[in-house]
Amino acid sequence: MSKPLVLITGSTGLLGKGMEETAPAGFRLLGLHQRAYEVKDSRMKHLVLDIRDKRAVDKLFAKHKFDAVVHAAGIASVDYVEKHYAESLESNIVGTLNITSACRKAGIHLIYVSTNAVFDGKKAPYREEDAVAPVNKYGKLKVDCEKIVQETLAHWTIARPILMYGWNHIATRPNPATWIYDKLMRGERVQLVGDVFENPLFNIPCGKAMWAMIKKKPSGIFHLGGKDTVNRHQFGLAIAKVFGLDAALIDKVGSDAFPGIAPRPPKTSFVVARMEKELGVPAVALEDGLKAMKDSLVLRA
Ligand SMILES: NC(=O)c1ccc[n+]([C@@H]2O[C@H](COP(=O)([O-])OP(=O)(O)OC[C@H]3O[C@@H](n4cnc5c(N)ncnc54)[C@H](OP(=O)(O)O)[C@@H]3O)[C@@H](O)[C@H]2O)c1
Repeated sequence: MSKPLVLITGSTGLLGKGMEETAPAGFRLLGLHQRAYEVKDSRMKHLVLDIRDKRAVDKLFAKHKFDAVVHAAGIASVDYVEKHYAESLESNIVGTLNITSACRKAGIHLIYVSTNAVFDGKKAPYREEDAVAPVNKYGKLKVDCEKIVQETLAHWTIARPILMYGWNHIATRPNPATWIYDKLMRGERVQLVGDVFENPLFNIPCGKAMWAMIKKKPSGIFHLGGKDTVNRHQFGLAIAKVFGLDAALIDKVGSDAFPGIAPRPPKTSFVVARMEKELGVPAVALEDGLKAMKDSLVLRA
């Protein structure tokens, strides 16, 4: 009997990379991404396919029998969504409709990847059952996608990762950790806000949590986060400390220093008891996650 096949949409993103690096031996992986580039040195097969193209999505599902689908593809930049809403609707809503429709027809369990941006940031730490109240267009789109999944599928899980850090595939966008690291490495000053709090999530335990969901196929919502709640300024200081970079280059500012960007919920840290108890994935301390990130950089050099 052949090993079960798992589809990951958005496989070249930070979450896809975490899943690839933690993939158990008993599964085959197929990933898809949008832009026409080849992913080298990868343990999974990557396809270029735009999830907005319903015909292409249906053809893919007709060709393969997936054991489970992880749907992480879409526009994940809060500020890009705020400024390019029509394009983001197509990518996030039309794309999610196409993937859920294909899963519904084939009776496949879908794990939809949502976000902490579904909350308004006034009542942290958030549990899975807390009411959603997004404050920006990205958060609103993700709430709409969660509803599409919950209201149209019989078999689903919603994973809500919070601010993620780790090494991306080279072709993808930087994340806050690699952005801060690159700036400090170049000796440039960095302004980081002291009024936005999260419990950052290393993409490796995130990958492990996604695999636990694929194996167990639980119903409901799971909050995925790290052990320590910090503001972005403290996050930057932790990066400087672990990587031995100059913390004096980091300036603490308020969110009002960036008037042009989309509103951010101030405090969205998660309670991660469900992740720890039901998925068996312990929350990782920020310093430990950053040290593991540093060690994997040494291995790559
Ligand atoms: N990163 C975080 O801190 C964070 C926090 C909370 C929630 N999330 C959620 O987690 C999920 C994954 O995030 P991420 O950081 O891994 O994302 P990412 O690094 O921005 O990568 C996005 C992925 O989606 C693909 N994609 C975008 N539009 C597509 C389309 N129309 N068709 C096919 N593929 C498309 C991209 O392909 P290309 O490489 O070809 O562009 C890429 O593989 C997202 O749903 C995001 O909302 C992320």
